[in-house]
Amino acid sequence: MYDDPSDRSLVTAAADGEDRAVEAALRPRDLDEFIGQERVREQLSLVLQAAKRRAATPDHVLLSGPPGLGKTTLSMIIAAEMGAPIRITSGPAIQHAGDLAAILSSLTEGEVLFLDEIHRMSRPAEEMLYMAMEDFRVDVVVGKGPGATAIPLELPPFTLVGATTRAGLLPPPLRDRFGFTGHMEFYAPSELERVIHRSARLLDVDIDAAGAAEIAGRSRGTPRIANRLLRRVRDYAQVRHDGEVTRDIAAAALDVYEVDARGLDRLDRAVLHALLKLFGGGPVGLSTLAVAVGEESETVEEVAEPFLVREGLLARTPRGRIATAAAWQHLGLTPPPQSPVAGQQDLFGAAEA
Ligand SMILES: Nc1ncnc2c1ncn2[C@@H]1O[C@H](COP(=O)(O)OP(=O)(O)O)[C@@H](O)[C@H]1O
Ligand SMILES: [Mg+2]
Repeated sequence: MYDDPSDRSLVTAAADGEDRAVEAALRPRDLDEFIGQERVREQLSLVLQAAKRRAATPDHVLLSGPPGLGKTTLSMIIAAEMGAPIRITSGPAIQHAGDLAAILSSLTEGEVLFLDEIHRMSRPAEEMLYMAMEDFRVDVVVGKGPGATAIPLELPPFTLVGATTRAGLLPPPLRDRFGFTGHMEFYAPSELERVIHRSARLLDVDIDAAGAAEIAGRSRGTPRIANRLLRRVRDYAQVRHDGEVTRDIAAAALDVYEVDARGLDRLDRAVLHALLKLFGGGPVGLSTLAVAVGEESETVEEVAEPFLVREGLLARTPRGRIATAAAWQHLGLTPPPQSPVAGQQDLFGAAEA
């Protein structure tokens, strides 16, 4: 089923080539335009306003959270709000401390340096960054071996904006050097609806409220996915209809792309289906479950399970994976009478209604 790793699902949160091309046009330009994330927005707004008032460079900012929630967008907004230029690079792009030294030494006063995937920077670069962040200074090493000398170089004040999907992987000395950390949360459906309406306006797509709600419900709390699904729904609406997006058209389009009403894709459903139909809802071991869907254990564990767990459809227990009552309900199946969740479906349905 998922033999080809390039056969990427429509609901992965990582950006593909098309996303990158379109996203530039869809990015909110200032904090007012940025939807949701109320807490981060308020905190960041205070940090920036205070810096402006003091005519100073804002403290270094760390943005942490899953992909597609707006970290890159916020870094650009920080620069825009400060009227400062921005330099964009990433942890993996910095192989040697020298790469970082070259970037740091060419920064201008007040510039924003955006370091994406900062947890993937090399150790020596990381150590150089500590000094740069704290003292606005780097030691540039000239020469090799015993004759090498370190020449201290003053840097202009700048703001580092680091982004990471894995804040837990950051060494504490690095984490401590950020004056402010913004934790990005998944978006509520109503917020995603606003993202979709805004993007539809920019892309010149005619969409009604129910159409936007339908797409929002399938977007896994992630604006990048919402924008991608909107583009696919637009294609469908233009090819099969007159271009207008309604609830029925959005639902039919996303059924074609195998993104279900809750945002599950083919692999997610295959995993749930195997868990319910073959193993009676579990518990079953990860590797057995993976064999049943013809996948590597890692794929099931890293690609499918996180969202299923987040949605409360699957639970990881010491005895193996188990399905929740919501999983049976989602696939429209009845748990066998001996199942611990038998009879809970109605309760769940009633609670949800
Ligand atoms: N709060 C938001 N409001 C509107 N659009 C957003 C918001 N957050 C993200 N987006 C959209 O989602 C896309 C992905 O955001 P991005 O900043 O690249 O995410 P990240 O860097 O966290 O992976 C962007 O194109 C942007 O248009
Ligand atoms: Mg990004």
